[in-house]
Amino acid sequence: MEKVVQFLKDAGTYYLATVDGDQPRVRPFGTAHIFEGKLYIQTGKSKDVSKQLHANPKAEICAFMDGKWLRVAGELVSDDRRDAKVSMLDAYPSLQSMYSADDDNTEVLYFKNATATFSSFTDAPEVVKF
Ligand SMILES: Cc1cc2nc3c(=O)[nH]c(=O)nc-3n(C[C@H](O)[C@H](O)[C@H](O)COP(=O)(O)O)c2cc1C
Repeated sequence: MEKVVQFLKDAGTYYLATVDGDQPRVRPFGTAHIFEGKLYIQTGKSKDVSKQLHANPKAEICAFMDGKWLRVAGELVSDDRRDAKVSMLDAYPSLQSMYSADDDNTEVLYFKNATATFSSFTDAPEVVKF
């Protein structure tokens, strides 16, 4: 899983797809952090992306860098514990001007039943499950 998080950090931006009824939704994201051995992302509960994930946790992210792309498919589960939020905000100090572990908006979610696939035009796909 460290390789997955490192790829997401090195790529800088990944695209998070959610399900909204029968309509896929996708947007750029950047947060990726390991806490208690799980891959977490961060968002705001006020955002549509959060509402979509609460209605249907199935999600997929995709990042591209240096001729390789990574997809992570699974479920994103909200973790409302303060420790998990603090860990994320400590890892991303730039978020601290907009979010705090004690506001009503900050949300962190971790991947469950995830399948990560590294692909390229030349090499065989590499699959990591976590
Ligand atoms: C490079 C980049 C990285 C971003 N990273 C995040 C992020 O990690 N978490 C987040 O909630 N929003 C992030 N955003 C903002 C979301 O893309 C934006 O709020 C989006 O509209 C959320 O999707 P929604 O409108 O479907 O709720 C990022 C935007 C950019 C341009």
